[in-house]
Amino acid sequence: MSLSGKVVLVTGGGGALAGAILDAFVGDGAKVVLAGRDADRLTEAAGGKRDVSWVVADVTNPDDVAEMVDTVVRRHGRLDVAVNAAGVFGKPAPVASLELDTWKSVLDTNLTGVFLCMKYEIAAMRRTGGGAIINVSSNIGAHGRRPGLSAYASSKAAVSVLTQTAAREYIADGIRINAISPGASDTPMSYRPGETKEDRDARVAAAVPAGRVSDPGEVAATVLWLASDAASYVVGHDLVVDGGATA
Ligand SMILES: NC(=O)c1ccc[n+]([C@@H]2O[C@H](COP(=O)([O-])OP(=O)(O)OC[C@H]3O[C@@H](n4cnc5c(N)ncnc54)[C@H](OP(=O)(O)O)[C@@H]3O)[C@@H](O)[C@H]2O)c1
Repeated sequence: MSLSGKVVLVTGGGGALAGAILDAFVGDGAKVVLAGRDADRLTEAAGGKRDVSWVVADVTNPDDVAEMVDTVVRRHGRLDVAVNAAGVFGKPAPVASLELDTWKSVLDTNLTGVFLCMKYEIAAMRRTGGGAIINVSSNIGAHGRRPGLSAYASSKAAVSVLTQTAAREYIADGIRINAISPGASDTPMSYRPGETKEDRDARVAAAVPAGRVSDPGEVAATVLWLASDAASYVVGHDLVVDGGATA
């Protein structure tokens, strides 16, 4: 099951879930490159850890994404695992009030960003005989909907379908592509504007059979498993990690 020595790229690298994903892969002996737009945040996330580096890239920019993957390959000679976690929530609003700019930026980051990342990651993995890609989708999307989140849900539902289509296209090249669809995890994204921790916990407890948000480590564990050989026959799966919220 070990990912020791594997080269792993994590987009959204300065984010809350990425921190737990980084710890999981580093704990298993992998070499990790974090990618994001903010060098300071990436420096802090990398934390001076051995075998962890970072690269600045905006996932909506094709040149940045191509350079991001090239950088990983220049540094480590290959790309074995890619975790596409960059994402934005967008300002919630019902459809008739939703700003076009919000719609475009959410779709651009969450969907086109994953498409662009996979486009270059797959090319790199094909050159070295295969790999694994895990796209971070959401339980808001293909599995559940919430008023005010049409852009986010649409983008994530499309990520789930994009994942499954690409999985069928590239498994013959030894590239396993899967998605995870987390529910609310204990990160800033799980809060509504102005919400306290007590309010967030009470809201989640009422809506989620497990009665709590997930620990980001619980989400990271599923990413690690999907990346590992233990999941060698898992292809095009969209693994819901939401405490039963959409069961
Ligand atoms: N937290 C949850 O409860 C939850 C639940 C379900 C799904 N998810 C999904 O899990 C992923 C990570 O969420 P999170 O909670 O860790 O959110 P987060 O803390 O806001 O992290 C998201 C990261 O995405 C990066 N990002 C945004 N736009 C980008 C762009 N154009 N190019 C490159 N990077 C970009 C941001 O980096 P910079 O701003 O530093 O560039 C940020 O570090 C997201 O895809 C989210 O939709 C989260």
